[in-house]
Formats: sequence, C-alpha cells, structure tokens
Amino acid sequence: MSVFPTKRLRRLRYNPIIRDMVRETELSKNDFIYPLFVVPGEKIKNEVKSMPGVYQLSIDNLVKECKEVSALGIPAVILFGIPEHKDEKGSEAYEPNGIIQRAVRAIKSEVKDLVVITDVCMCEYTSHGHCGVLEGEEILNDETIELLAKEAVTHAEAGADIIAPSDMMDGRVAAIRKALDEKGFTKIPILSYAAKYASGYYGPFRDAAESTPAFGDRRSHQMDIGNANEALREVETDIEEGADMVMVKPAGPYLDIIYRVKQKFGLPTAAYQVSGEYAMIKAAGRNNWIDEERVMIESLIAIKRAGADMILTYFAKEAATWLDKSK
Ligand code: PBG
Ligand code: ZN
Repeated sequence: MSVFPTKRLRRLRYNPIIRDMVRETELSKNDFIYPLFVVPGEKIKNEVKSMPGVYQLSIDNLVKECKEVSALGIPAVILFGIPEHKDEKGSEAYEPNGIIQRAVRAIKSEVKDLVVITDVCMCEYTSHGHCGVLEGEEILNDETIELLAKEAVTHAEAGADIIAPSDMMDGRVAAIRKALDEKGFTKIPILSYAAKYASGYYGPFRDAAESTPAFGDRRSHQMDIGNANEALREVETDIEEGADMVMVKPAGPYLDIIYRVKQKFGLPTAAYQVSGEYAMIKAAGRNNWIDEERVMIESLIAIKRAGADMILTYFAKEAATWLDKSK
C-alpha cells in the first residue's frame, strides 16, 4: 500500500475541473419535491412568519405557483391544506369537495406534467389539532385509519398522483392500499412517512398549516428521537403493508436513519428537510451569520449523500435556480 509521499489525496483537489469530475454526489432538480400550503379564498398569498419565502396560497395563486415550479424543472409538489372549518372528526379531510381535493383538481386541469403528491393526515382538519379522532385525550388508532383511507380515496378521485400518509398510525398503509385498490386506484403509489420522529423541528410548519395541537403532543404516535432500530421496523412494516416509497423525517438531524433505511431496504427513499431546518438556515442567513446559499446546498448534498433519492424541501425553487446558474 502506497503512503505519503507517493500517496497524495490533494492531487484531485487542485483544479476545479478535476474536482467536478470526481465529485461523488451532485444535486439534480429531479431530487426535489416542493411543499405547498393551500388555504380557502381568493388572491391570498400570506407569508409564513417563521418561514421567509413560504406562503399560504389560495387555489388561484397555488396554480400560478405550480406553473412556475414546473417551469423551473421541479418534478413534484406535495400539498397541505388548511380547511374552511375544523371539527372534532376532521371532516374536511375526507370531504370530496374539501380544500385539497379542489386544489388537486385545479392543478391537474391547468398544469401539465407536474406530479401532485398529497399529504394524508388529520391534524390540519381537526379542531383539537391531533392527527386522528380522540377518545378523551387518546388518539384512537383503528378508527383513525378508516378516516385516513377515506381521505386518501378522495385525493385519488381528485387526481392526486401519489398518496403520502404522514400520520404514523399503525396499519394505515395497509388500510389506504386496500381502500385505493377497492376503488380501482391500483396504480397510485404510496409514499409513506415511515420513520417520522416527534421532532421540535416541525414548529414553523404548524404555523403554516395552523395545526398545533390544542393540548399534549405527538409522542404517542411519532417516533422517539433516540430510536434507530425502531425506524427500521417502522419502514419494514410499511413496506410489508404496501408502501412503494418510504420517507425519513426530519432529514438533516437524521442522516444516520436515511443511510440505514436506504442500505437495508433499497427502496426509493425520500427525506423531508422540515420547516425548522429551513427556518434555521434562513434566519442565520438573514443575519449574515452564514452564507445562506452555500449552507442550503451543503444541507441538501448531505441528505442526498446519506442515501436520499428524493428531498422534500422548501428550498426546492432556490436550489433549482442555483443549479441553472451553476451549469
Ligand atoms: C402532518 C405533518 C407535519 C409535517 C408534515 N406533515 C407536522 C406534524 O407532524 O406536526 C411537518 C413538516 C415540516 O415541519 O416542514 N402530520
Ligand atoms: Zn398529523
């Protein structure tokens, strides 16, 4: 084995062209999925305070945004809905004419060649902000997955291309797969939020989606932050139940999980760079404490290097613009 002075790893770093040639991980626009928040009304574009550059959009503006996103070369969006009315059972989640169902129909009729993914959960739709139906303060599992399955079917009926359950109830993937198949949606893939942690990094999202729980937290269904082997069991279970793609969430603080999931299962693996990850980079960038663009790219490369095939990120548009610029 050769050692210094014959072995010199710096030889491949002196020249920018050579550096480009030997780079192992590069971003592509095909990696990105752009999250969008849709609200009732018209001509609405409310910036989310803790997420500069992210807006709650009414359907008219959402369609405009989707055209822009698609023109930039980003292949997919994921939609989150804020309903007109919230109630105990989150009825608007599975209402055929609910906010998401209308939004999907509008996008599908006006924007060609954009993959529309819908997030399936109850927390944006329930008056108490929990991810399912309650008995006292307990989230009922088996009652909730029936409603999630109904929600998924209404999304597919509206034209959603991919269904993404984010609730972390047991058995939801099986229930959703069965319901979709029974309605003839055998070709609609499921991207399950398989390893989703009970994370403090979701704070800004809950402002954007107006889904902060009225009491308690999400620790009875989302994963404990210290667990890694359990993440593999969650992923394995979702695959057995019929998930076509799996997701790890958050992304940056859970690179070990992304790595292990990709190594062990080899399925198309998504990672969600969540609202708090975005907010921290934005905040430090705005203060000139970091070079925001550099850190944005570095954070995305790290997620891809760990094994993610797809990244859900609020930076999708900026990163796509960066890719155009750096060509
Ligand atoms: C809904 C859901 C959440 C996120 C995606 N889907 C929030 C939560 O679990 O409270 C978080 C996304 C983000 O923080 O960007 N279950
Ligand atoms: Zn939820």
